[in-house]
Formats: sequence, C-alpha cells, structure tokens
Amino acid sequence: MMNKIPRHVAIIMDGNGRWARQRGLDRVFGHREGVESVRAVFETSVELGIQYVSLFAFSEENWARPDSEVSALMSLFIKSINAERETLLKNGIHFRVLGNRARLSPELNEAIDSLDAATSAGTRMTVLIFVSYSGKWDIAQAARRMSADGGEDLEKYLVTAGVPDPDLLIRTSGEQRISNFMLWQIAYTELVFTDVLWPDFRREQYLAALEEYSLRDRRFGKVK
Ligand code: IPE
Ligand code: IPE
Ligand code: MG
Repeated sequence: MMNKIPRHVAIIMDGNGRWARQRGLDRVFGHREGVESVRAVFETSVELGIQYVSLFAFSEENWARPDSEVSALMSLFIKSINAERETLLKNGIHFRVLGNRARLSPELNEAIDSLDAATSAGTRMTVLIFVSYSGKWDIAQAARRMSADGGEDLEKYLVTAGVPDPDLLIRTSGEQRISNFMLWQIAYTELVFTDVLWPDFRREQYLAALEEYSLRDRRFGKVK
C-alpha cells in the first residue's frame, strides 16, 4: 500500500490530440474526454488527502496553435468552470487559475474570478489550473515585480507564492520533457512519466503514479 502521500501533485496533461486522432476524431474530442480525467484526479486526490493539485491546462506556447483549437479550448474552460461549480463546493475544493490572465477573454476571466471567490472557503484541497502559463514567464514577471518592490525573496512573487513546491510531477503521453511548466518550483520534485494519454488517465493510472512516487527516496542533496 501507499505509505507516502504527496502534499502537492502537479500534472502536465498531455496527449489529448493523439487520443482523438487514434479514433479518427477531431482533436477537440480529446480535450473534452480529458475533462473526465480531471474529474477523476480531483476525486481521488480529495479521497487521499492530497492538499494541492496543479494542472497544466494551456501553455503560453499553446497560443500558437490554430485559432479553431485555441477557441475550442477557451470555450471548454468556461463550460467546465460552470459545470464543476457544485462538485467543488460540495467537496471543499478551492479553485484557482494561475498564469498570464491579461491574455484571457473578459468572459473567461469573470468565470474564473467568480468560481475562485465562491470556493475560497474550501479547505480540503486547492486546485491550481495553469492557463496561459509558462515557467520562464513566471520567473520574469516575479523578477520585475520584486525589483519594483525592492524585495529580495523571488518565491514571494511567483504566481505560486504561498503554495508548497510540488512533491510529484506527472506527465502523460510518453513525452519526457517539462515544456516550460513550473521551472523554479520543481527543483526537487519527483518526476513520473507515463505513456498513457491524458484522456485515458483515470483513477487506476493515477494510483499507479502515486505508488511509484511512494517508492522514491528523496534526499534533497543530503546524505541519508
Ligand atoms: C494536451 O494535449 C492539452 C493541451 C496542451 C492543451 P495536446 O493537445 O497537447 O495533445 P497531443 O500532445 O497533441 O496529443
Ligand atoms: C504541454 O503540452 C502543455 C500542456 C499540457 C498544457 P504540449 O503538448 O504543449 O507540449 P509539447 O509541445 O509537446 O512540448
Ligand atoms: Mg501535446
């Protein structure tokens, strides 16, 4: 059984397009099916007592995809935000979105702010959805704000300020790269890569990744 439960799990949700293509479907069907995997991960995480779940939903680089895919994804975000409201409230989950919010539409920004405010009393778990985010952008914006402030602790200016660093980072779809996700925050994070495509990543696959994490020996540069 699992003897070590991470406090913070981060996931690069990849492989939606390939999942759809394998079925002769448009890529957007993969994104839609991927929402079900998000739900499965939330449910299992709450059940296990995981405190933070970070999901990379849309990178700064993803803006360069065809307009039709970008707008389908933005519509899916708004739809999912509205659909998940009750479940999040019921389970005591605080919903937050981190990233370059200035690039999002007013409609999406309003939906995000409304759900964040409505769920802010949730103390069982916090979900952080990274939208229009890149790790380099985060460090650059933190550095700019820190110097304007005359501050010294960069971490306090990252969008993740106050959130403990991820213990575990999972990437689906077989790619073994970070693709500009949290660069600063994963300094000592355990990495788990799986070939499973995101729409197929459900409870069983998630538990397998958590099991793998529980077997890791974390040393943080020290001698044990
Ligand atoms: C991940 O799936 C979702 C986003 C990056 C928005 P992809 O859309 O990257 O799917 P693949 O990697 O092309 O299969
Ligand atoms: C990473 O997936 C970004 C998200 C999951 C949101 P990509 O599909 O954009 O990454 P690359 O292009 O394979 O590196
Ligand atoms: Mg991809």
